[in-house]
Amino acid sequence: MSEGLILGIESSCDETAAAVVAGGRRVLSNTIASQVDLFRKYGGVVPEIASRKHLELILPVIREAVETAGATLAEIDAIAVTHGPGLVGTLLVGLSAAKALAFGLDKPLIGVNHLQGHIYANFLTEAPPSFPLVCLVVSGGHTDLIYMADHGEMELLGRTLDDAAGEAFDKVARAVGLGYPGGPQVEQLARSGDPEAVPLPRAHTEGPYDFSFSGLKTAVLQYVQRTGPLSDRQRADLAASFQHAVTGALAEKTLKAALDRRVRQVILAGGVAANGALRQAMHAALDPHGIALGYPPPVLCTDNAAMIAAAGYHLWKAGVRHDLDLNAVPGLGLRVKG
Ligand code: KG4
Ligand code: ZN
Repeated sequence: MSEGLILGIESSCDETAAAVVAGGRRVLSNTIASQVDLFRKYGGVVPEIASRKHLELILPVIREAVETAGATLAEIDAIAVTHGPGLVGTLLVGLSAAKALAFGLDKPLIGVNHLQGHIYANFLTEAPPSFPLVCLVVSGGHTDLIYMADHGEMELLGRTLDDAAGEAFDKVARAVGLGYPGGPQVEQLARSGDPEAVPLPRAHTEGPYDFSFSGLKTAVLQYVQRTGPLSDRQRADLAASFQHAVTGALAEKTLKAALDRRVRQVILAGGVAANGALRQAMHAALDPHGIALGYPPPVLCTDNAAMIAAAGYHLWKAGVRHDLDLNAVPGLGLRVKG
């Protein structure tokens, strides 16, 4: 087996996931047991139920990931696990499994920040992005614009002042009668809508790289209340107009950050990076300036453990090792300057 075989484990929300990655870039296995179907009827994740489900799934998922990789646990060089941010009860399940394996096998344990994992999904390729770069992290809980000078050298440029981009997608989905999780369904509905049909506000923020989506979300809710029961056409137009407004704001600020910091590379990370309209808006903004745009394939944008193994690999190479008293930290922030 090649050098740097990392077992990644992820359980921060409603996906129980394990993966084996070689050299920080080659995905040998990527097992994801999603609980999405379970939570559809609740319209969102119920933390206590999610924790119990993780407990049922974690060992079979790890076993499957190791077997699919054609590896044995003895061949693994280190165990990387998400220890935050996320739901404390679900994080503890993955973390406890990782600690037990690290202790039993006498392998290094490496705690990974979930958001750093999302960023490192971009490195799961033979042609990884080049530094310095600007990274836009757009997930269910975060919208952060980050400058990266090198591995582990991050500076926070801006963030959302209220709702995260994914959260706004999920709330708007509910407002137009779509289920959970909302993002992919809004994208689907928006395909048949007119993005210019419904005028929506563009938020002004004090910080040049900050975002705000709550005004936009409120405008969507007010439109629904004012208009009454929406026709299919109106629903599609509203979804398209909302998506256009969000992706426009994200692209505009990301371009500004890339130009101000004079980077030649931008990358997208997190669940919303799977959105085709966002990718298009980013290309439209960056291509004329010759700035390269990278994003992971959709399956590596949403929660998975290959990204945790990829981030874990770079930490492992940098000599990071954690003790068995490593704790789950629900509000864990990225280690950034700024
Ligand atoms: O990164 P992620 O899987 O989990 C968190 O760490 O939060 O992101 C989940 C979020 C959800 O809000 C979901 O609606 C959104 O990403 N999302 C999308 C798409 N796929 C997932 N939003 C817009 N378009 C998509 N195709
Ligand atoms: Zn995530």
